[in-house]
Order: sequence, then C-alpha cells, then structure tokens
Amino acid sequence: MPQIPAPKTYRVKSFGCQMNVYDGDRMAELLAEQGLSAAAEGDEADLVVLNTCHIREKAAEKVYSDIGRLRREDGTSPLIAVAGCVAQAEGEEIMARAPSVRMVVGPQAYHRLPAMLAEAAAGQRVTDTDMPAETKFAALPPRGQGDRRVGPTAFLTVQEGCDKFCTYCVVPYTRGAEVSRPFADLIDEAHRLVDAGAREITLLGQNVNAWAGEDGKGRAIGLDGLIRELAALPALARIRYTTSHPNDMAEGLIAAHGEIAKLMPFLHLPVQAGSDRVLKAMNRSHTVASYLAILDRVRAARPDIALSGDFIVGFPGETEAEFAETLALVDAVGYAQCFSFKYSPRPGTPAATMAGQIAPEVMDERLQRLQAALNRDQLAFNRASLGRTCEVLVERKGKHPGQWLGKSPWLQSVHFAGEAAIGEMVRVELAEAGPNSLHARLVENVALA
Ligand code: SAH
Ligand code: SF4
Ligand code: F3S
Repeated sequence: MPQIPAPKTYRVKSFGCQMNVYDGDRMAELLAEQGLSAAAEGDEADLVVLNTCHIREKAAEKVYSDIGRLRREDGTSPLIAVAGCVAQAEGEEIMARAPSVRMVVGPQAYHRLPAMLAEAAAGQRVTDTDMPAETKFAALPPRGQGDRRVGPTAFLTVQEGCDKFCTYCVVPYTRGAEVSRPFADLIDEAHRLVDAGAREITLLGQNVNAWAGEDGKGRAIGLDGLIRELAALPALARIRYTTSHPNDMAEGLIAAHGEIAKLMPFLHLPVQAGSDRVLKAMNRSHTVASYLAILDRVRAARPDIALSGDFIVGFPGETEAEFAETLALVDAVGYAQCFSFKYSPRPGTPAATMAGQIAPEVMDERLQRLQAALNRDQLAFNRASLGRTCEVLVERKGKHPGQWLGKSPWLQSVHFAGEAAIGEMVRVELAEAGPNSLHARLVENVALA
C-alpha cells in the first residue's frame, strides 16, 4: 500500500468491560498527545480504533461487521486499528480476513500506538500483541490532558490480568498474568483525575480485590488499604471497585464496607452458577456455601449493601436440576442487579471441548427463566428504596429539559428535575421505581470539597 497522509482526527470505539473503556480513554489521550483531535460527532475520523472484546463469540464476531461498516462507497476505508482482546486473540486472523485493517494492537501494547501509526502511514500493516515486562502505564501520558476532559465519574485500572483460569474464560489469555499497579502510581493518577474534575472513582481489575501493594511507608496493603488512602482525598466523594472474585474477598475489604463512608454500598461479586458440581467444572474454586458466607459477612458489615453478580447458563453438562440450583441461589441472595449470559464456547479454553455441550434452545429457555427472576429482584430492590433520602452524583442531562441523571449510592440510575449541574452532588428522595431506574425529588444541593 502506498504512503497515506498522516491522520488528523481519531475516534476510539470501546466494547466489552470497563477495563476496555479505561484503555480506550488512555488511547484517546495518547492520540491527542500526538496532535490528533477527536472527530466531531457524525464526522468520519481519519483513524478509527476498534477496541474489541473476546469474551463471547458474538462480541468477537462484531469486529468484522464494524470493519465492514467503515467502508466508504468507493471501497476505501479510514485508517483502521483493531485493539483490545480480539486483537490479542486473533491478530493474525484479523489481518488475513480484513485487508482494510492497518494496525492490530493488544491490550498490553497500546502505548506503542504512535510508533505503529508512523509505520502504518508509511504503508505497512503492523501487529503488536506483545506483553512486555515494562508496563504500558509507565509509557502513557498523564491523565486529564489533551482535548479529553474527565467527567464526574472516572475509571482507574489498578490491577490487570487473571491467573484464575476459569475453564470457560479467555481473559487469562487475552490480558495475561495478574499484575497490580504500584501504589504511588495509583495515588498520583487518582490525584490527577480528581484535579481534572472526577468526584467518583471506580477502581478496576479483572480481579480487583486481588490488588496488593506497599503503601508510602513500605507496609504491605490490600485493596482496602488503597481505598482508605484514596478516601483521604478531600475532593473525592465516592469510591467503587469492580470486578471481584469470591476467593479474594479479604476480611479487611469486607470490614472497609462498614468503616469507610466514601466506599459506596455496592458489591459486584460474580458467582456464575448455583451448583457446586458446575462450579468445580468451571474451576471457580468457591462453593455455593462459601459464596453465601461471604455475602453474609458483607451484609453484617454494611446491612444496606446492594449485591450484584454474573451468571452463565448452559455450561457444558449443566442439568435441569443444576440450573434449578442457580435459581434457588438467586432467590436466596436477592440481588440488586446482575448480568447473565448464555455459555459461549471459546477457542482454546478447556470448556469448549468438554462433553455435554448444551443445545441453544435449552440455553435460551434457561436464560429467560433466570432473567425473569433477576428482573423481579431488581424491581423489588428498587421498590424497597422508595422513600429513602440519598445522595446522587449528577452525571449528565436527562432527555427532558431541566432533567438530570446520576447514580444513587447503590448504583441505581436516578433522574430528577430542578436546579443542578453536572458534577454536583444532590440529596434526593426516591419517589418512583421502575425496573431500570428511579425517579426522585430534589431535596437540596450538597456542598463538595
Ligand atoms: N473477572 C470477572 C469477570 C470476567 S468476564 C470474574 O471472575 O467474574 C465477565 C463475565 O463474562 C464473567 O463473569 C462471566 O459471567 C461471563 N463470561 C466469561 N466467559 C464467558 C463465556 N465463555 N460464555 C459466557 N459468558 C462468559
Ligand atoms: Fe475469567 Fe475467571 Fe479470571 Fe474472571 S476469574 S477473568 S471469569 S478466568
Ligand atoms: Fe472483553 Fe477483554 Fe474485557 S475479553 S470483557 S474486553 S478483558
């Protein structure tokens, strides 16, 4: 391919988990530092980065239709880079199947995008799916710079990768081994986010509660220690973290839920299934009983905590009776919200070749029953909050004039009307509950540090 003019505008489209959203933001900041500007809404960008997800087959296949959609009428395309977990898992296949893709870059290599861009502009097709020992974080520009503004809520990746190897999951292969970012770097990044306007920070990791480090005095600390330090930042009003693994739910972290006011009363703790046999086949290394015992301790520390989880239906060999155990677990917990998925066989994972793969119709039917139960509980949780007065951090304008949207401490979407602004904290009374959001009455604006 001949030389191409250097791109002036970019667009980053992120799919999948919040960690990809974080990576997408960091790529955007990196491109902005290179002098590119974000393409205006509705305009075609010179460079499009598709930041992809490989977790289920549907998510992974989406990249090819997205690439197709970028093609212009004359058959040409903007400069396309495929990033994220599909890039890591299927880099070569993407290059072979999609000639319009000029760059493939993995989740641990995207700090090298500028160099790749130069090679692509010179007419080459470049792939970088290395997992270098020196992390990308050290090479990325500091947060909150360039033409990217930080909103009232921000993500901060504190831990990456996974060593758990659940038998259905691609993440250990696409993201690599579990690594905790150093304490000092995280405190620095949190300061920058807060200085740039963040009032709520969500700490991210595939197993975020496995984060481990040393504080400023060289003492070994876990995620609760990090949260405690962050809670001391006066302008930071709220702290959340996701996603946690039941086996890393340390007592200190559970206790933190009862002790740190800025730590929001919400816990996303995926269980995946309600049968011990299935959990064992999944290599989850927790049982239903050990999972429920953790929830009991969390509820003892913070009685109003909202619980959330992930479920997979139709794991190979799952019987109707075992699926019924999942429904029983849901009934026992009373989740505030959950994600649930049909099992999707992923190439290279042990479960993909297990005996007893479940027919799609059976999975559909089980997913419907599970989601009916989860929706029922979500509505019940929202209804149970009616009459409560709580704080809402205003994140954006609503659809109607004068309407604002934000989140309750329990991560419910709340809308209300009145005098407010994005980034403000308001006190509201929860007045009407739907399955996915609540309507509230504005009580007062709360002063933030
Ligand atoms: N680290 C987290 C979640 C990682 S992926 C954890 O341990 O729970 C997010 C969710 O996607 C998982 O919790 C699981 O419910 C779902 N998932 C992962 N692999 C899947 C697969 N092959 N098929 C269907 N769902 C899957
Ligand atoms: Fe995947 Fe299991 Fe690791 Fe979660 S803990 S990322 S489900 S392998
Ligand atoms: Fe998807 Fe990778 Fe996240 S596979 S869920 S984008 S870690």
